[in-house]
Amino acid sequence: MAKSLAIASLQIVSVLLLASLGQSNTVFRNLTVYLHEFQSGDAQSIFPVAGLPNVTWGYHQFGTVFVIDNTLTQSVSFKSAVVGRLQGISAVASLDGNNMELAATILFTNGKYKGSTVEFKGIALRSMLVNEVAIIGGTKQFRYATGYIISEVLSAVGGYLTLRLNLYIRQDIPDDSPGIAFH
Ligand SMILES: *[C@@H]1O[C@H](CO)[C@@H](O)[C@H](O)[C@H]1NC(C)=O
Ligand SMILES: *[C@@H]1O[C@H](CO)[C@@H](O)[C@H](O)[C@H]1NC(C)=O
Repeated sequence: MAKSLAIASLQIVSVLLLASLGQSNTVFRNLTVYLHEFQSGDAQSIFPVAGLPNVTWGYHQFGTVFVIDNTLTQSVSFKSAVVGRLQGISAVASLDGNNMELAATILFTNGKYKGSTVEFKGIALRSMLVNEVAIIGGTKQFRYATGYIISEVLSAVGGYLTLRLNLYIRQDIPDDSPGIAFH
């Protein structure tokens, strides 16, 4: 008797929880931006900042940590409109030197998403031109974001890399969330 009462009250609790969770709006957004990375020169945008002692730090040396501040543009030309920056940290995280761990923020600095961010994390295989990382969150217009980013190296010449980033964003926004702009 006591047991069935307990089960009954558990059921009530879970019904109440579901009720208080309420509705959510799911918003899907696909965005494409182009990344420009300069590995040397006046416009250098990625720097090794730490690594193992007594080895030469580099893109193929396990343990090398980089800080990145790359420009993001609307189309493939570096001269096209700037939409934001990719700022974060990467590290050569496989012992064979082939894989880069990435943990970074896409910060929109222009256009309708100005001031909002998309956070992502994942591993990039240097042997692949196409990689996928996970979107693990966002701020402002990208609150409650999940999804993934497909990146593709379009060119890599003389330490200047151009990549296309396709962002597939899903936001499950609670109805009672304050200050979210719906589109
Ligand atoms: C985003 O891209 C995915 C995969 O191509 C597609 O299934 C989906 O319909 C697109 N969503 C929007 C809002 O364009
Ligand atoms: C690095 O090299 C220096 C000079 O050869 C040596 O004194 C030091 O012990 C080495 N450190 C490590 C961690 O191997």
